[in-house]
This record gives sequence, structure tokens and C-alpha cells, in this order.
Amino acid sequence: MNSHEIVVRQLEIEDIPGIIEIEKACFPTPWTHHAFRAEMRNKLAVYQVVETEGKIAAYGGMWLIMEEAHITNVAVHPSFRRRGLGRKVMEALVAEAKKKFSQRMTLEVRKSNTIALELYKSMDFVISGIRPGYYHDNGEDAIIMWKELTIADFLL
Ligand SMILES: CC(C)(COP(=O)(O)OP(=O)(O)OC[C@H]1O[C@@H](n2cnc3c(N)ncnc32)[C@H](O)[C@@H]1OP(=O)(O)O)[C@@H](O)C(=O)NCCC(=O)NCCS
Repeated sequence: MNSHEIVVRQLEIEDIPGIIEIEKACFPTPWTHHAFRAEMRNKLAVYQVVETEGKIAAYGGMWLIMEEAHITNVAVHPSFRRRGLGRKVMEALVAEAKKKFSQRMTLEVRKSNTIALELYKSMDFVISGIRPGYYHDNGEDAIIMWKELTIADFLL
């Protein structure tokens, strides 16, 4: 692989240390190695990573529950932001959800996370509600968003 090539692919066990590095850089309560190993055994879980310049630069995951895709995490390492990788991860999750015939997708995002909110809105996720005080670390509200996967999505 050319070092500047961008590859989007399924999570593999060797990727976990790179993902933990991203978690630690992005979130106040990062998921552990153990949590990701458990996710790899979880038959409902789908995780995608973005690899470039010899590094895991971004990743995202979701659980496919009946006809719904519940996004669990999306994160881009701070040194790889604003290069379209967050969008690539989201597009990969949408594509996987469509392959598994999900009808809709959902996620929660901190009210203050305007960057992520802009990304999700630009991909037709719509705000449907608020979970007050959802985040334990600072009591922040979560915004709940949904995206319907229409017939047109399946034709793309
Ligand atoms: C949110 C996040 C995933 C975006 O990743 P990214 O790779 O930097 O985003 P992209 O370059 O793909 O940009 C996608 C869109 O996000 C928005 N965006 C990204 N960076 C932005 C910034 N600094 N200011 C405003 N909007 C921004 C824009 O809408 C952008 O679309 P555009 O390029 O057409 O303007 C990244 O900032 C991140 O990992 N944040 C920390 C973890 C996190 O908050 N995850 C989401 C939890 S719900």
C-alpha cells in the first residue's frame, strides 16, 4: 500500500492498539482493549477503520439490531482531522448498514459537539430528541439523531 493511499476496511485484531490511541486522544472515558476484543466477538457489531500513512487514522462502529443500525463510536485521530476521514468512516458505516438491509440508523452526540453534529446533518441524520444529562462525566445532554435509509439509498 502506498503510504498516502487511504484504505477503508473492516477492523482486525492488530488494529486495536491504534484504535485505543485514537480513543484516548478523543474521549474522556476511552474504551479499553478488552472492550474492543469483546466487540470483535459480538455478532451484531460492525467496525470499520481508515488506514493511511501506515497508521489507523480513524474508525467507527455500530450494532445492527433487527432493522436498525446503532452507531456506537466514530473518531478520527487529531492529527488526521479535516481531511474527509470522518466522512469516509460514516459513509463506510452507511454502506455496511445498507448491505445488511438496515432501514434506519441512529446515534447519540454531545450537545456541544458542533463539528460532529455538522457532519451527521450533512449526511441526512435528523435530530429527533434529547437525552438530558446522558453523559456521566459532565452531565451533558445527548442529542439523538436518526437517518432513514430510503429505496434511493439502496439503488446508489
Ligand atoms: C467529528 C469528527 C469525527 C470529524 O472528523 P474529520 O475527519 O475531522 O471530519 P471531515 O474532515 O470528514 O469533515 C466532515 C464534516 O465535519 C464538519 N467539520 C469537520 N471539522 C470541522 C471543523 N473544525 N469545524 C466545523 N465543521 C467541521 C464539516 O461539516 C465537514 O464537512 P465539510 O468538509 O464538507 O465542511 C472528528 O472531529 C473527531 O474525531 N472528533 C472527536 C471524536 C468525536 O467527537 N466523535 C463523534 C462522537 S458522536
